[in-house]
Amino acid sequence: MKYRRCGRSGILLPEISLGLWHNFGQQARREECRAMIGRALELGICHFDLANNYGPPPGAAESCFGELLQQDFATHRDEMFISTKAGHLMWEGPYGDWGSRKHMLASLDQSLRRMKLDYVDVFYSHRPDPDTPLEETIGALITAVQSGRALYAGLSKYPPHLFTRACTMLREAGIPCLLHQFRYNLLDRSCESGQLPAVKEQHSGCIVFSPLAQGMLTGKYSHGAIPADSRAADATSPFLHAEQVASHAAEIARLQTIADEAGMSLTQLALRWLLSRQEITSVLIGARTVQQLEQCAAAAGQEPLPQELMELCNPPKEQ
Ligand SMILES: NC(=O)c1ccc[n+]([C@@H]2O[C@H](COP(=O)([O-])OP(=O)(O)OC[C@H]3O[C@@H](n4cnc5c(N)ncnc54)[C@H](OP(=O)(O)O)[C@@H]3O)[C@@H](O)[C@H]2O)c1
Repeated sequence: MKYRRCGRSGILLPEISLGLWHNFGQQARREECRAMIGRALELGICHFDLANNYGPPPGAAESCFGELLQQDFATHRDEMFISTKAGHLMWEGPYGDWGSRKHMLASLDQSLRRMKLDYVDVFYSHRPDPDTPLEETIGALITAVQSGRALYAGLSKYPPHLFTRACTMLREAGIPCLLHQFRYNLLDRSCESGQLPAVKEQHSGCIVFSPLAQGMLTGKYSHGAIPADSRAADATSPFLHAEQVASHAAEIARLQTIADEAGMSLTQLALRWLLSRQEITSVLIGARTVQQLEQCAAAAGQEPLPQELMELCNPPKEQ
């Protein structure tokens, strides 16, 4: 594994990190989860990304991870970099969602209990809250760090102007933003016009999620069908469905041809295309099996893609 420095911090993160959004819920096979954590550590993938609501149901991924940690990996805690987040719906009532100090800190305490941890390495605001003063949400992150519940603070899905303001608040408190986490892949480049330049400007680290567009960039949907064991076919996973796959079909087929001609899998093309960008500290995958994890890990430590290949991957210009 190759490691990259997170902004101007002392932290190095693996080029490939493992997220537990949909692969550690109650439907997941516990033995596969255990094997994935073990194999990830062997491969040098030491960063595990969680959130209060990962499952399904919400909380299940943290509970599963916490049990496995306690049973099998407790002696590896100091080799691991573990994150969690708060800011999406977690429990009913006025304090179970968004960015109030009440929600953020109560949720973090719940996450620590589920994961059986004394502290997390990063605590994120999972999304900006339009109705809570930014000072309050960021103040909760500062408290999380100052109280020892988290070592670092992070932000997720903040638009550039709020990200910049939040970074200033954190810096003034002596707790610079370690990481900004947002979506970036060959099918969604919306961050290029704002979030990506902003992380560079603020000298924060940058970790990008859904690098394989939830599986659309792995070849499994390249021939039009939806495999039965795929996320798009899984009714408990409402974030990817057949219509979404169909709407990207032409671009998926075009990228598959580019990958074939370059002599690599679409998975490798998609991950190496991201890792060729120096602004990116780590690429956050959501592998569901050990085999998928190993295939993704192979993208680390490679030379950047040739410029010509990078450009071929740009979406065709509208006629
Ligand atoms: N901050 C946020 O708001 C936010 C939002 C989303 C995600 N995230 C983070 O980002 C992580 C990754 O997101 P993601 O799950 O969307 O990432 P992803 O890696 O783009 O998609 C994961 C899916 O891709 C497929 N896959 C992965 N490797 C494969 C391989 N080698 N061959 C074939 N298929 C493969 C699997 O699909 P099948 O299940 O179909 O096999 C897997 O479920 C999450 O776990 C979470 O930590 C954060």
